[in-house]
Amino acid sequence: MSNGFTVAIDGPAAAGKGTVSKAVAAHFGFAHLDTGLLYRAVGAKVLLGMDAAVAAQTLVPDDLDDDSLRTPEVAQAASKVAIIAQVRAALLDFQRSFAARAGGAVLDGRDIGTVICPQAQVKLFVTASAEERAKRRFAELSGRGIASSFEAVLADVRARDARDMERVEAPLRPAADATVIDTSDLTVDQAVGAAIAAVDAVRGSG
Ligand code: CDP
Repeated sequence: MSNGFTVAIDGPAAAGKGTVSKAVAAHFGFAHLDTGLLYRAVGAKVLLGMDAAVAAQTLVPDDLDDDSLRTPEVAQAASKVAIIAQVRAALLDFQRSFAARAGGAVLDGRDIGTVICPQAQVKLFVTASAEERAKRRFAELSGRGIASSFEAVLADVRARDARDMERVEAPLRPAADATVIDTSDLTVDQAVGAAIAAVDAVRGSG
């Protein structure tokens, strides 16, 4: 299914997957795909009145390049469309082609190690306590001038965690062979270091 070197990074909302994925991709010169953006782009179109399956089937790369996808409203809409089997099926080929590209790829999301790239050479599950994740997301949103409260962000994180873990299609869970990195008490540098070490362990032994 995949010819390239693939790093699959999964985990719950606001666990720091994006930061770790970007740093791993930059360190090894791999391409990076934030698969959450696919679901956010579909969710954003649904908020504008489009049918979810049609939105997923007609998605184009330009749709991902939009700062407004990073709002809490779009995040909730994303986790609602992510339950729909037709939506997930429509996004499958794009993700698998990306993973197979020559030169290596990092994909982050919820089901990369379990469903999209079960053959990935490296699988990481990046997590942290709900409170810590909400704290980080609240700081990020405040920094971008998006008004919210810590309590609202925590409620959003918990609601998405529940929806993502309890759904029938590709539920959020660590792959059996994933390395779990709990970043609750780690600095960004320590979390990135742990991820790079996990990739090095596989590349070094290859
Ligand atoms: O950045 P954050 O962790 O808050 O969320 P995201 O990665 O952008 O994902 C937004 C939503 O898309 C998640 O809550 C999931 O419901 C969904 N998603 C998914 O189902 N499968 C993926 N591979 C990626 C995201």
